Order: sequence, then structure tokens, then C-alpha cells
Amino acid sequence: MDDLTAKKELEQMPSGINPNFESLHKVFPSSAYLRAHAPKNVPRFSFEYGDTGAGADVGIQHNWAAFDAIKVVPRYGAITTVPPTEVELFGTRYAAPIGIAPMGGPSLVWPGADLIMAKAAQRARVPYTLGVAGGASIEEVAKVAPDVFWLQLYRFYQNDHAIGFDLIKRATAAGVKALALTIDVPVRTTRTRESYAGLGREFQPNLRMMYEMAIRPKWLLALLRNGYPRFATIRQYTRAGASTNEVIGFARKNMGGVFSWEEVARYRDRWKGPMLVKGILHPADAEKAVSLGIEGVWVSNHGGRQIEALTPSIDVLPAIVSAVGQKATVVLDSGIRSGQDVMRALALGAKAAFAGKSFLWAVGALGDAGPGHLIDLYIDELRSSLGQIGARSLDEARDAVIRHPGAWRFDRND
Ligand SMILES: Cc1cc2nc3c(=O)[nH]c(=O)nc-3n(C[C@H](O)[C@H](O)[C@H](O)COP(=O)(O)O)c2cc1C
Repeated sequence: MDDLTAKKELEQMPSGINPNFESLHKVFPSSAYLRAHAPKNVPRFSFEYGDTGAGADVGIQHNWAAFDAIKVVPRYGAITTVPPTEVELFGTRYAAPIGIAPMGGPSLVWPGADLIMAKAAQRARVPYTLGVAGGASIEEVAKVAPDVFWLQLYRFYQNDHAIGFDLIKRATAAGVKALALTIDVPVRTTRTRESYAGLGREFQPNLRMMYEMAIRPKWLLALLRNGYPRFATIRQYTRAGASTNEVIGFARKNMGGVFSWEEVARYRDRWKGPMLVKGILHPADAEKAVSLGIEGVWVSNHGGRQIEALTPSIDVLPAIVSAVGQKATVVLDSGIRSGQDVMRALALGAKAAFAGKSFLWAVGALGDAGPGHLIDLYIDELRSSLGQIGARSLDEARDAVIRHPGAWRFDRND
């Protein structure tokens, strides 16, 4: 997209809840309906890629069950208005404490998904996090989502982090609002649904996958309009004209492992804006990150996509908030499926909650209109949930009387 078209699109973008919300709500009244509908438009292998967890999905089930188990006792008699949802994160004001988590390859689920999500976030004024392995480039996202743009980095360790440090320069030039270093992908994982659907180490559509694409006209149209997954942020570090598989191979060779704390400190030094470490589940790791000058702790188990045995992030949230909540902004993802879940996360001390998979369900079900509708749904549900428990503000959610059976207590020996 050229600069002028991007600028025009930005100027014409309406803000606030979509005027079509009520009519979309009749057909898609919750994220579950988006998930149920997405496979009708999305080829099976693509849906499986976006929807699956590690192994047999037990981690995802645990994430969902952990949220469902959290119960609140409401207080009545004080509410006069619908609670406002605006929040300040790292010096920027957003319309709600709800964001889009970084994803690699969302454009495999729906061609063009990265930019569709970025535009929806800009319209709604909520954080959008571009995954470094996503389909769009840093520069493209800066054009369509300048006010809400967060970036996630993996560890590009070759040549003493030359690519990682160059990405920081590009992020600075692009005006990225916050940078997240992901630390929870130490090694590759296996996702059985993904493998069974035909996705291997390389992207090589077999006959069945081609048939699945051929019978999904809306998806094909998006492919025609937006093209194949391009890994646009990292593509420029490979040879000009490299194929998608070459870029994937390049990423595999150059990227991987966990940032050591020494490396986190070096990145912290180079990036002048707010920085988060994403994938923290132990309060001691949160304390270590904060001791290095990290302003944000992103509590996450990667949406259950790495290993089934990890604790749900919501179950370690209170311990992490109690360890670092006074010194750092704690945000959370993994298992968010409603504004009610967002309310639970806020009640347990998160400043904001992010979602990944459900935004892929949304774009799969509704194309361009999906992510915006999901943001509207989450905000609407959050307002209603706050009102229901008697909270007049986001902060008051923290006063909720809450039972959290899965909460971890980290004793000295843990
Ligand atoms: C398809 C997909 C790709 C993802 N890729 C990345 C990634 O490249 N970097 C990252 O930090 N997290 C990645 N994640 C994890 C998300 O950022 C987030 O932690 C997770 O999706 C939140 O859980 P939820 O899906 O239950 O909302 C990915 C998630 C999905 C669904």
C-alpha cells in the first residue's frame, strides 16, 4: 500500500464501536460462534494451524478451565453508569485493556490477516502486536496502525544478533509503542492436529490441501486480494525474490532459543521505548526481568501451543502481580475467550489482557469485519461484566471478592 492510500484510509477510519455491531451480534454473539463458523470459510489445514495447541490440546483445555473456575461474589448498590474502559499502558491511552497478541503466520489462516487485525485495532484504539514472524512488515503496520502498534521479537542470534538489533532500529523508526521479547519457545514443539492436517517443516500443499483451498471461495478471494504469506518483516534479510519456504528455512536457521538474561539486558539497552518480556510464568523470572529495567511482564503460556503440561497463565498471575505489580505493568494472555475472562484477569491484577486464537477465529468467520467485531464484543462483554460485579471502574475490578481455586502459591522452595 502506498503512503497516500494508507494516510487516506487512516483518516477515514471511524472510531469506537462498529455501527453494524448489533446486526453482527445477532449472528455472532460470542467468540464461540466465530470459532464454530470459521472452518466453513478457512481450509482445514489453515484452521488447524491457528486453532491447535501442543500435543492433543490439553494445554488449551486447561487454560479455558482455569478461567471458568474463577468465581466472583458481586457487590450491589453502587453502580450508576456503565464503567469506562479506557486504560493507559506505557504512556499511551487505549480504549480498553484488551489487545491482540503477536502471531507468526496468521496470514496462513487468512491471507492478509495481519493488516486486517492491525486496522481493526487502530479503529478501536486497542493495542495490536505484530509478530516478527507474521505476514506484514513493520513498516506496513506503522502505516495502518500508528497509534496502537506493539512489536514482538524472537531471538535472531546469528552474527551477534545483527538482525535483532536491526529490527530494533526499524521499530524505532516506525514509532512502535512497546516491544516484547518472547522467551517461551526454547525448542520446537509438536502439534498433532497441525501435522495430521498436512503441515510439515516446509509449506508444501498436497492434493488434499489444494482441494480444501479450492472449495473455500471467500478464502480464495482473500488470497487473490492479499497474496500468499510473505513473512514480510524478515524477508528483507534473505535473498531478493526468496520463496516462502526459503524464508521459513532462513528463519529456522537464524532464529531460536530463549533470550538469556544477558541478552535481554543488551536488547533493553538498545531499545529506548517500553519493553516487555513475554512468556513469564514464575514470579522469580518476573523479578529478574524487572531488575534489568523491563517495564512490562507479559504472563503467558503461549496459548497452550508449546507444551500441554504448563500451568495456565491466569493461575500464576496473582503471585506475579504480588512480586512485581508495584514496579511493572503486568499483562496476560492464554485462554481469553470473552470480556468476562478479561474482567477475571483484571480482578486478579493484570493491567490488560491479550488474545490470539480468537482473533483468528474472527477473521476466519467474518473476513475483514471479524477482528473489529471481536474487539467490540470483548469491550461490550467487559463493560457488562464489570457492571454485573459492581465495579465502577477497571481499578475497582481489583476489589472484587473472588475465588481462584487454581492459584499457585510460590513458597521458598518452588
Ligand atoms: C497461530 C499462532 C501463532 C503464534 N505465534 C506467536 C509468535 O510468533 N510469537 C509469540 O510471541 N507468540 C505467538 N503466539 C502466541 C500468542 O502471542 C499468545 O500468547 C496466545 O495465542 C494467547 O493465547 P490464546 O490463543 O488462548 O488467546 C501464537 C499464537 C497463535 C495462535
